[in-house]
This record gives sequence, structure tokens and C-alpha cells, in this order.
Amino acid sequence: MAERILVTGGAGFIGSHVAEGYLAAGHDVLVLDDLSSGRRENVPAGAGWVGADVRDAAAVEAAFRSFRPTVVNHHAAQKSVTASVREPVLDADVNVLGLLNLLQASVAHGVRRFVFASTGGALYGSGAPVPVAEDFPPAPDAPYGLSKLAGEQYLGLYGRLHGLESVILRYANVYGPRQDPYGEAGVVAIFCGAVLRGKSCVIFGDGRQTRDYVHVADAVASNLLALEGPPGAYNIGTGVETSVNRLVEELRRVHGGPVAVEHAAPRPGEVRRVALDVTLARERLGWAPRIPVAEGLAQTYAWFREHLGRERAGERAGEPAVAPAASVPATAVAAAAGPAYATATRPGDRPDRPAPPGGGARRVRKAVVPAAGMGTRFLPATKAQPKEMLPLVDTPVIQLVVEEALAAGVEGVLLVTGRNKRAIEDHFDRAPELEYLLAQKGDLAALEAVRRLPGDGVIHYVRQREPRGLGHAVLAGRHYVGEEPFCVLLADEVFEGPAMGAVLEAYDRVGATVLGVKRVPPEETSRYGMVAVEGEGPLYRVTDLVEKPEPGTAPSDLAIVGRYALAAEIFGALERTPPGRGGEIQLTDGLRLLLAEGHPIYGLELPHRRFDVGERLGFVVATLARALERPDLRDGLARWLETEGRRLLEQS
Ligand code: G1P
Repeated sequence: MAERILVTGGAGFIGSHVAEGYLAAGHDVLVLDDLSSGRRENVPAGAGWVGADVRDAAAVEAAFRSFRPTVVNHHAAQKSVTASVREPVLDADVNVLGLLNLLQASVAHGVRRFVFASTGGALYGSGAPVPVAEDFPPAPDAPYGLSKLAGEQYLGLYGRLHGLESVILRYANVYGPRQDPYGEAGVVAIFCGAVLRGKSCVIFGDGRQTRDYVHVADAVASNLLALEGPPGAYNIGTGVETSVNRLVEELRRVHGGPVAVEHAAPRPGEVRRVALDVTLARERLGWAPRIPVAEGLAQTYAWFREHLGRERAGERAGEPAVAPAASVPATAVAAAAGPAYATATRPGDRPDRPAPPGGGARRVRKAVVPAAGMGTRFLPATKAQPKEMLPLVDTPVIQLVVEEALAAGVEGVLLVTGRNKRAIEDHFDRAPELEYLLAQKGDLAALEAVRRLPGDGVIHYVRQREPRGLGHAVLAGRHYVGEEPFCVLLADEVFEGPAMGAVLEAYDRVGATVLGVKRVPPEETSRYGMVAVEGEGPLYRVTDLVEKPEPGTAPSDLAIVGRYALAAEIFGALERTPPGRGGEIQLTDGLRLLLAEGHPIYGLELPHRRFDVGERLGFVVATLARALERPDLRDGLARWLETEGRRLLEQS
């Protein structure tokens, strides 16, 4: 679901990347930032901006009233440890009272979730183990760590008092493009700046002190996951200690030349070693750092080389300095992303299928998609991947089927999976790092293809421990479905057009079980459940059903194809159904039992073209048919079929 996210500090280093990440993921963003250390150019073009201090309660209240955020992401802060020692009152003013303004407004305006940028480096104190986990009692060494700790405590209190959910991100040393190379913290940026300006890197002490450096893209990913993951405080680092000396070595490597170093007296109160244990974020948020320091440093150095270079060129020409601000591509991405995403419909958006007339039948809200089969017909392709993930051109069959169900108006889809099917779950999961990288690259088409997949709250899973037939797989959906009508889509079949939608419309009319049926040639009856019918088509009354009768013994030429709208009574019937053909519990047999017990069943003859993608030939044909529908492939493929294709055909 698209959120409305107020990002405080969204003109600063981390905050502006977070704002971009949220925009790229399709959310609406308003940046609130007084530009005391951020830059207006950092605010991504797709976001709104309010120039206000978080301590200004009236301005904060006005921003909440007009923007109505669902989520607040709080990155605005007094962020300097040394400044906090010098000016503890200012530090508490910004970091505690500023936060309180936001918390009050969040409660007043019904904000759903509060994401808070805290510190992992300055919170635990010098007595902490390395790496340190979240449950170590914090004992900050400076007012900055204490004001962040107070913030965390206030969030806990607001949760208990007002039910405000919060996710606290305890950052290690975040580094990356756009960090201030002139600041007093942010050693990666400072060293990159120094090397590029031909100055020496100043190391305080022996340089063997360590920090945990986490790339800003990884930090952004944690902010994306924080929108949904379980509330709590999470370390966001790498768990890896990197010494200052090691940083310099890496810089020499990427700079490809000498790097001058100067040593200065160690800074008092500086912690010797820091690394954060990130197990909790890994387990609960599904987050993991992806960018190793060496790679992130090389990338950051390249960014500074480009941007500081421009700045110096500007200085030489007597023009005002170009700040190392938002890179052009990043801003352009955000600008393009804003409107495009705001209007895009997702497959999960419900079309308006009218309520059943007369209010008799209950609407079908849930779908069950059996996906536990072994896929032996596609070996060796299906040895290590589920057959449902085989793509027609570039879209896995399971995705097409899920999209068909959602387009038919169902709200949730249960996938019945089994061993060796994890790729399906990964497919429908979020991929924040991938999304962020695609946004950074400006590949909006790929980004949209990844982002529009339905997921949380829509796709559900249950595992079938052993495949014992289609009826058995449908039974596995009993707990999810409960006592309501539901539909079943078989992932071996795809249709040109809304087959499931047509079956559900028929269900809405008759308020009883409806099976999608199609005519098949006599020699194919042994591949299908076949029905005997009476009445006028296309919606027939079913009078009998037989699973896979031998040719010549079928009651008609109407075969059940894989789209069913079922009354909940089918579950009871399936439990009473003995194993049938192939020793498996057959759905067709369960339906037959229902019919015998007096439940009406209808067969809707579907007009849509159908592809049996569970067969190799059907799969290849479906691939070609889909490719011919695609404007990007149509002409090239048609030309090939008419020339090379024809030649191959004649030769064979
Ligand atoms: C299943 C059903 C069968 C139905 C068919 C449609 O068979 O058992 O009644 O006609 O799907 O594809 P399967 O193809 O799983 O053997």
C-alpha cells in the first residue's frame, strides 16, 4: 500500500537517500527540513518540502494537518557527538523536544508508524562488547547518545500510552554519496574529500580504532523494511570492524596513487572499537547489509571524484561552488517516479465486481492456487526450481495466475506449496535493495515490474507435506478459507482473457459451485475431469462428473479446466472422498459426492483461448503467443517466424 511519509531531515545525507528510496517504492513523501545542515538540492524532485525546524510546534502541526502522513520517518537531528558535549542543551532541544513535537502531532493525526533514526555507535558506550547486540544495556558516553536514548524511551512510552508503533534504527557509521566531506564526522567522506583535494588524511591516534561502516543504500533498505516489519529497535550495521588504517589502505587502492596521512592526538572519549551485531534485523526485518566496505568505498570515492571535480571546476571559473548535492540521475529518477507511480494501479487493487444480486450468494474473496506438484514434465529445468516459476517470456506462470485471480476481484490468494518451492515465496517478497539499486540506475521499467507484484496481506502460503492429489491440495486451504465460498486456479493453465472473472460472475448469478469447462477432442478426455450436463449453454447444469475417463467413455466433450468457484461444503466432501484415480484424492470425485448429496453444480463454457502450460508443447506455444502480443517483441519474432522459422520447418 502506498504510504504518505513525512521524512524529517530529508534534505540531509541519510534522509535524502531515504526520501528517494520511499519515492522509488511508490510512496508519497514530504520532506520537513530547516536546512540547518541539509541542502535544498538534496530534496528529491518527487517530494514536497517544508522549510521548518522540528522544534517549531506550530509549523510541525501545520505540516501534519495538510499532508496527513501515515508514517513519520524522523532523521532530523543534532547529529554531532562533539557538538553535543559542547552544547548539551542545544542537543537535547533538537533531539528530545523536537522529537516530542513530532510525537504529539503523530498521535493527534493518527500516524500509523514512526521510524526513528537512532545511533548504534554512540548508544551502548565504551563498555560494550564487540559486536554488540540490542539487548546490551545502553550507557552513552556523550549527550548525543543520551538524547537518542531518551528519544527511544519516549517512543516506547508513546507506544504504551497511545499505541503508536515505532521502529528504531540504530545506525552504525553510515557512509556514501552526498555525505558532507567538510564535516567533522563521516570519515569516509572526509578522507575522500581530502584525497581528491590533494590534502592529507588526518588520523587521530594510531588508526587502529575500528568502526562499523554501513553503506547508505543498505541503510535505506532498512527504512523500507521498517514500514512493515515488527516494531522494535534494530542495529543497522555490518557486524564487521574496519580500522581507520584499513580505510586509508582501501582508499589508496581505489585512488590508484599515494595518499598522504598525518597523525594527530587521539580524540578524548573516542570509543576504541565498534561493531554492531545485526542478527535481530536479519531475523525480524529480513534485512541484511549487501555492500561490502571495499565496494562501497570505491563507489563513494567515484561519486566524490565526479562531484568535487565539478565543484572545483566551478570555483576555478569564478562561479559559485556546486555543492556535492543530489546527483542529477538520482533526482531525475525521483522526478520521473513521482507521477508515474502515483497513478499506477497494482494487480492487488480490487476491481469493482458488483455484489451478487439479491444479496443471496456470498462474494468470493479468496483464491487457492495449488502449486506443490513436482513438474516432472519439465525436467531437468525443474530439478532445482518450481515449475510454477517457469516464465512465459519474462513473467513466471504463477504470477500470471495470481494476477488473474486478483483481477477477478479476490482479495487474497493462498498458494499451496511444498518442498523445493521457496523461489515462489521469494518472488512475491519485497526486494528493497534491488528496488533501490534500480531506482539509482534509473531503470524505471524494471523497477515497476518488481514493485507492482502483490505481496504482504495478499499472498499467503501453506505447505503440503506430501502431494496426494488435487483434492488433497485444495483441502490444505481449508483453514485459510474458512466457511466461505472460494475459487481455485490451477497454475498449469493460462487463459487469454479473464477466465476466472467469468466463472466468478457466473457464481455471483447462481450462488452455487461453478466449474470452468471447455470442449476437447475425444482422444483427450483421459487428461481431464469430464462433465455430463443439461440445459442451455454457456452456463450448464452439471449432472455428473468423471475424472479422466478413457476415450469413448466420457459423458460429453466438456472438460473441466482449471478455474473453479467452490462452495465451502467441498471441504467436508473432500474429507469423505476416498483416493481415486492414481491413488490420489481427486477434486472431481469430491465434487461428484457434493452433487450426489444434492448440491447444485454448474459448468460455464469459457470462450477464452487456453494454454496448457503444464505440457511442453503448450508451454512453447503459450510463450510464442505471448511474445507476439508484446509490442517490443512482436515484429522481430514475426520476421523470424516468417523467414528462419519457415526455413527450419521446411528442412525438418
Ligand atoms: C486436474 C483435474 C482435472 C482437470 C484438470 C484441468 O488434472 O484433476 O479434473 O480437468 O486438472 O487441467 P491434472 O491436470 O492435475 O492431472
